[in-house]
Amino acid sequence: MTVGTEQASIVQTAERVRALVDHHLEGFLDEHAAPVADPEVARAYRLLRHFILGGGKRIRPLLCYWGWRGAGGEECDEIISAASALELCHAGLLIHDDIMDGSELRRGSPTMHRSLAGLHEGPGVASFGRAAAILMGVLTLAWSDELLSAGDVEPARLRTARGLFDRLRTEVITGQYLDILAQVRDLSTVEQALTVIRYKTAKYTVERPLQIGGALAGAQPDLLETYSQIGLPLGEAFQLRDDVLGMFGDPAVTGKSVLDDLREGKHTILIAHAFQHASPGEADHLRAWHGNAELTEQRAAELREIVVTTGALARVESMIGERARDALGVLHAAPIGPEARGGLAVLADGLINRTR
Ligand code: IPE
Ligand code: IPE
Ligand code: MG
Ligand code: MG
Repeated sequence: MTVGTEQASIVQTAERVRALVDHHLEGFLDEHAAPVADPEVARAYRLLRHFILGGGKRIRPLLCYWGWRGAGGEECDEIISAASALELCHAGLLIHDDIMDGSELRRGSPTMHRSLAGLHEGPGVASFGRAAAILMGVLTLAWSDELLSAGDVEPARLRTARGLFDRLRTEVITGQYLDILAQVRDLSTVEQALTVIRYKTAKYTVERPLQIGGALAGAQPDLLETYSQIGLPLGEAFQLRDDVLGMFGDPAVTGKSVLDDLREGKHTILIAHAFQHASPGEADHLRAWHGNAELTEQRAAELREIVVTTGALARVESMIGERARDALGVLHAAPIGPEARGGLAVLADGLINRTR
C-alpha cells in the first residue's frame, strides 16, 4: 500500500467506526425511551438524544477501537458497544461540566441545562434547567455503565475492561474536583495545573479508552502499559490544545465560547505561566479581570495579549509539541500492527493540531 492509499483507508475506517457508534447509540436510545407517558419528560429525553447524537468528534470510541485492533482484535462489531459506552460516559460528563463551568454553548448549540431551562417559563427556569441537567447527566452516566457490559466479549476480558472503566470514572471525577478546587485556592503552579489536566482529561479521553479497547482484545499488561505511555502525553497535549482553543479559538468552529475559561477564572497552564512571567502591571490586570464575571470582549482581548507577551502561549505550544513527540516516539516502537499504528498516528495528529 502506498502512503496515500494507507491514509485513505485509515480515514475510511475512522468514518465507518463513527457511523457504527452512532448507529449503536441510536439503537440503545430507542430502547431507553422515557418509562412514563408525561410529554414534558419525553421532551427532555428528546433533548438528551439530540445532544448525544448531534455532534462530537467521537475521539474516545476511535481510541478504543484502535486500542482493540492494536491488541489483535479482529475487524468486527464486538468492540462497538464498549466504544459507544465511552461516548455516553463523555456525554454525561460534558453535561455536568457545562453546569459547573456556567457554559452556555456546546457543540455550537445551547448547553443541556440551557436547553432544558428553555422548555419552560418563569423565574425558576434557570435553576430548573441545572437540576434537570444534573439528572440527565446522571442518567447518561448510568447508561454508559449498562452499555459497557452489553457487548459479546469473553468474561475475563470484560472484567479487566470494567476495572479500567471503574478507574476512569474515579479519575475523571477527581480531576473535575481538582479543577473546581483550583478556583477557590491560590493561583496554581504549572505543575499543579498539569495534574488537573492529567486527571480531568488525559486519562478518560485517551489513556483509558486505548487500554479498554486493548483489554477487550486480551492485551497483556505490557501492552496496556505502552498504551498508557502513549495516552497520557497525548491526552495532556489534547487538553493543552483545548485550553489554547478556549482562549484563542474561533467559536464558530469550536462550538464553545471563547470567554468561558477567562470569565470563570480557570487556572489553566496558560494562565499559570502568564502569572509567573507577568510584569507587576500585567499581574494586576490579570488579577482584576481573570475570573471576573463582568469580563468584556475588550478586557478578554487584553488578557489574551498578556498571555502572548509573557510567552505563555509559546510555552504551551512547545509543551504540546514535547508531549506529541513523546507519545509518537512510544507509538512508533509499540508492538502493534501497521494498521493500528497508522490509525493512531492519524488520530494523534488530529487531537493535537485540531481547530475544533
Ligand atoms: C471536550 O472533549 C472536553 C474535553 C475533555 C476537553 P471533546 O473535544 O472530545 O468534545 P466533543 O465530543 O468533540 O464535543
Ligand atoms: C474537560 O473540561 C473535562 C471534562 C469535561 C470532564 P473543560 O471544562 O476543560 O472542557 P470544555 O472546554 O468545557 O470542553
Ligand atoms: Mg468546561
Ligand atoms: Mg470544566
